[in-house]
Amino acid sequence: MRAASPLVEGYPKRIPLHDGSEVIVRPMKRSDEVRMLEFFSGLPLEDRQFLRHDVTQPENVHRFVTDVHRDTVLALVGERDGRIVASATLQRHHYGWMTHVGEIRVVIARNLQRHGFGVGLVKLLVKAAIQAGVEKIVAEVPSNRTAARKAFERLGFQREAILKRHVKDLCGRKRDLVIYANDVSHIWERMESMVLDFNPTLGG
Ligand SMILES: CC(C)(COP(=O)(O)OP(=O)(O)OC[C@H]1O[C@@H](n2cnc3c(N)ncnc32)[C@H](O)[C@@H]1OP(=O)(O)O)[C@@H](O)C(=O)NCCC(=O)NCCS
Repeated sequence: MRAASPLVEGYPKRIPLHDGSEVIVRPMKRSDEVRMLEFFSGLPLEDRQFLRHDVTQPENVHRFVTDVHRDTVLALVGERDGRIVASATLQRHHYGWMTHVGEIRVVIARNLQRHGFGVGLVKLLVKAAIQAGVEKIVAEVPSNRTAARKAFERLGFQREAILKRHVKDLCGRKRDLVIYANDVSHIWERMESMVLDFNPTLGG
């Protein structure tokens, strides 16, 4: 995994769940391939439909863990009792007019959903995005996915666009796709102005 080293500092971390238990979160490793395939294969189709590739296919999981597409800034996994129970990624283009934009995707095993884990994972990715210099973070959520909408809204994401009838659910029904965005550029602007303030050679 080609993640910049400062982003993986401090891992593994523990995310506390509402029931008092914890899940270990750490960067994904190449050796996770078999367990990633088991995790993805155990997800209901409904929960993995938003992913770009069919991750029940071993070759796609192989590509994912070896980061062939190279757009992954950070890929985290949740681990419990030796099993992978969540995947959370931050991706960005490394070329072109959207290099300042990062996209977040999170999927959690059904038995661990609704325990506060989603909010915890998104929080870690937002922090990593800011550290990586991402200025705007986006996430795509179908309008009927309440948990995902709430998790992003809770962390300051705003509904920035709605693509009408853009995705099909399992029954073939077309749903709106909500683009959530969190513009964190002000954080960088503030840091830059602080650096200027502290630089005795500038600003006379
Ligand atoms: C989206 C997802 C990651 C959220 O994770 P989660 O651990 O279930 O979410 P949390 O427990 O942190 O809950 C987030 C919020 O949604 C609420 N919520 C969770 N499930 C809910 C449901 N089924 N209906 C209504 N509200 C729900 C929680 O109460 C919480 O709101 P609050 O903070 O105001 O109390 C998880 O549901 C998932 O993996 N879904 C399948 C994949 C997916 O759709 N990913 C989204 C695209 S990135």
